[in-house]
Amino acid sequence: MTSGEFSLNDLPGSAGRMDILCRCVSSALFLSFGMRRDVNVHLLLLGEPEPGKIIRFEGLHLRYLNPDERSSGSLINKALLKNATELDTRSTPGVWIRKGDLKSLLASFEGRDLVYLREDGKDIRELAGEIRDPVFILGDHTGVTEEEEKQLLEAGAKIISVGPISLHSNHCITLIHNELDRVEAERGEIPGGANSRAEN
Ligand SMILES: C[S@@+](CC[C@H](N)C(=O)[O-])C[C@H]1O[C@@H](n2cnc3c(N)ncnc32)[C@H](O)[C@@H]1O
Repeated sequence: MTSGEFSLNDLPGSAGRMDILCRCVSSALFLSFGMRRDVNVHLLLLGEPEPGKIIRFEGLHLRYLNPDERSSGSLINKALLKNATELDTRSTPGVWIRKGDLKSLLASFEGRDLVYLREDGKDIRELAGEIRDPVFILGDHTGVTEEEEKQLLEAGAKIISVGPISLHSNHCITLIHNELDRVEAERGEIPGGANSRAEN
């Protein structure tokens, strides 16, 4: 959904499976003791009453986020209560909202490696060492529509799989991180970003 009129006590029901997005935010950003400061998360919200809102969580500047679903749900809720326009509006530190659709979101990633996650894609292990500064795109519980997929492929996205079985989006995010962490560790880089242990 795209209004702040939902209950944090019923994220799956009152908010149109907002629980999935909350888990994705947490999986993308949290480490055991710290946060992946080099990760941003974009949530493309296409539900009623105002389809077409993009909420961005910036790992570098995020504050007031804890790993539980209610915490990310609360920051999403606060962002949705803002009057969204085509320009970014800051909601809370590290959380921004704007109006937008998939086309405008993809345009904002121009020049970066787009990686579309799909069960029958190429094995991420064949590519993890090659991709730098990637943008990973995942569907929700209903997957990606034909039209959205067409836009992704036209934008040059590669189709990548994290394994043969269909998983929840947030579990895919954990697996993607794990593959990239291993590659970074092999290169002698610090997985999770140099500032990952900075205070939340
Ligand atoms: C729960 S799945 C979607 C299932 C949905 N019923 C469908 O048919 O597309 C959510 C998203 O996770 C990603 N995903 C799930 N399993 C995957 C896998 N093994 N490899 C790559 N991506 C996967 C895809 O982006 C998918 O859209």
